[in-house]
Formats: sequence, structure tokens, C-alpha cells
Amino acid sequence: MTLRSVILGTGSYLPKKRVTNHDLSQHLDTSHEWIMERTGISARHIAAPEEYTSTMAIEAAQKALTAAQLTAQDIDMLILATSTPDHVFPSTASRIQESLGISKGFAFDQAAACSGFIFALATADAYLKQEMAKTALIIGSETMSRLLDWEDRGTAVLFGDGAGAVVLQAQTQTDRGILGSLLRTNGAGYDQLYVNGGPSTTQTIGTIQMNGREVFRNAVNRLEEAVEGILKIHNISQEEIDWLVPHQANKRIIDATAKKLGLPEEKVIHTGADQANTSAASIPLALDNAVKDGRIKKGDLVLCEAFGAGYAWGSTLIRM
Ligand code: UT7
Repeated sequence: MTLRSVILGTGSYLPKKRVTNHDLSQHLDTSHEWIMERTGISARHIAAPEEYTSTMAIEAAQKALTAAQLTAQDIDMLILATSTPDHVFPSTASRIQESLGISKGFAFDQAAACSGFIFALATADAYLKQEMAKTALIIGSETMSRLLDWEDRGTAVLFGDGAGAVVLQAQTQTDRGILGSLLRTNGAGYDQLYVNGGPSTTQTIGTIQMNGREVFRNAVNRLEEAVEGILKIHNISQEEIDWLVPHQANKRIIDATAKKLGLPEEKVIHTGADQANTSAASIPLALDNAVKDGRIKKGDLVLCEAFGAGYAWGSTLIRM
């Protein structure tokens, strides 16, 4: 009896406030043309002061539950992928569990920066296959705007806020579900992209520091390995991929991965233009976008990939 972790529903949430490149160029030495050409980003959504990682996650989770035709009572595992928790502890997942009215099972946060959702999906898949839970909510939610130095044009233009969620259920006798995941980290990249604050070091929150060129170079190379690696493990050819749902850090990075896979532009889900880099939220946001507009359908083979701080990177193959 083979257990599979099947996606039953997706949901997402974006804050109302939308900040364009033009808006940023009013107080920062940058331009719409530079940001578009180097990143493909044209706008980003920014959380209101009363919006938190938890509140956005709850909105996305409720939509995913509705799409799955389930209720909070059905959930017995909740994993929140985030690098921007509401508080240092308890886990923001605990807050979400309580607010949604989930009364059984367990909930925890998982941090792998921009690759957080890939790591959380892989964790959930393993737990479901061990029968530690039956039905899971996996959420990526980030308030990246709270970690930005708005004077640093090298990072301020790149990030946005938002949340995305999926409901996963362990099922037998199905071809659908997560086929497998590939996870990698290399701590040698630690200082190339990090937040210069934290409870055990500075006792401040800090802001994002990045050596963009170095991160870019590593992202392109490691993502190539991650997508080719997972296809090889599962003996799947590039032609079988219906959709690439990538982490939305930079359109040029995504284009390089799609080119390597021989995937035409129409098979790649792009949301970065209007959402920028929402870190662990970007993949579930993109997935929900393409499910809701009818592009991704039941039975389609989806390849997700992400690279980010750590360095941490990975890929997941899902039969929807
Ligand atoms: O999700 C986590 C992973 N993160 C990433 O994957 C990000 C990876 N890196 C990148 O996406 C790109 O490296 C950036 C978009 C951050 C930068 O693009 P780049 O082509 O690597 O530019 P650069 O850093 O080499 O900078 C080129 C020039 C510099 O000026 P000089 O030194 O050549 O005079 C920068 O100061 O562009 C300048 N610059 C800007 N100019 C206008 C940097 N940021 C800006 C800006 N507006 N916002």
C-alpha cells in the first residue's frame, strides 16, 4: 500500500498595498528600467502595519481549505515555512493553528529562507508517509518588507510580502501526489545572503545583506543541478514536465533554468513581475495563481525549484 501526499487545494493572499518601481524611484537612486531589466520585477505588495506573517498565512490557509472542500477540523499537521515569524517564539504556526481552530495534531515553523516551502513540502511528505498525520496544511508566509533597509537599492527593490498555502492529504491507490523532493544546503554561502541581526548575536532584528552577483551565479548553477537531479532520480524526461513553478527571485534566474530544461516560456509560471521575491511564499503563491486561472490542472506534472540563503536549495516533483 503506497501512500502518496496529494495536493487537494491551494490558496494565497497578497496585501492590498502595491508599490511600483516608479514609487520606489521617488526616494531611492533607482529606476523602473533598471529593476525590470535586471530582475523582471515591476511591483510588489507590502503588508499594512496591522498585517503579520500569521494573519496573511491564515487568509491563504482558509482559501486552501475551501478549495480542498475541507475544514480546520480535518487538519492534523501544520507546517509554516517562514523567515519572518511574528515572534522569536512560540512558533507562528501555533498562532495559526489556534486562529484557524485546529484542535488536533501538531504545528511548527520551518526555516530554509527562500527554499522554505520546498523544505516544508518534503518534510510534510515524509511525515505523511510515516502516518504521523493524515491531512496537512503547508503554508509559506513572509513579511520581507520588515527586514529591508529601504535606503539600500541593492535589496529594497527585490522583495515583497504575501502568503500561499496547500492542503496535502495522505492517500493510497492514486498516481497523484508528491513524487519526490531533492534538498541541498551548503553553509559556505552563509555570509553571501543573511540578516545582520538575531537574538543570539545582536539582539536586534537586522536587515537583509546580499552579495547579489555571487548569489545569482550560485543560484543558476545549483538550480540546474536540482532540476536535472530530481528528473534523473525519478527517471522522468524533460518533455514530461507540464509546468515549472519556480521560486520568484529573478526572471533571469528562472529563464536560465527553463532554458536548461528546454521548457518554452508558456510552461513557466511567472508571478515575480507583480509580487517580487516573497521568499518562502513565492512558490505556493505562483502555484495557486496558475491553479486558479486554470493553467495547472489535475494530473499535470509540476516541477518546483528554489534557491536562497544558506545556501539552501531544492526541487519537488508533483503530480497534481
Ligand atoms: O531569493 C533569494 C536569492 N536571491 C537572489 O537570487 C538574488 C540574486 N541576485 C540578483 O538577482 C542580482 O544579482 C541583482 C538583481 C540583485 C543585481 O543584478 P546584477 O546584474 O547582479 O547587478 P550588480 O549587483 O552587479 O550591480 C550592477 C550595478 C552596480 O553599479 P556599478 O557598481 O556597476 O556602478 C550597482 O550599484 O547596478 C547598481 N545597482 C542598481 N542600480 C539601480 C544595484 N541595485 C540597483 C538598483 N537600481 N536597484
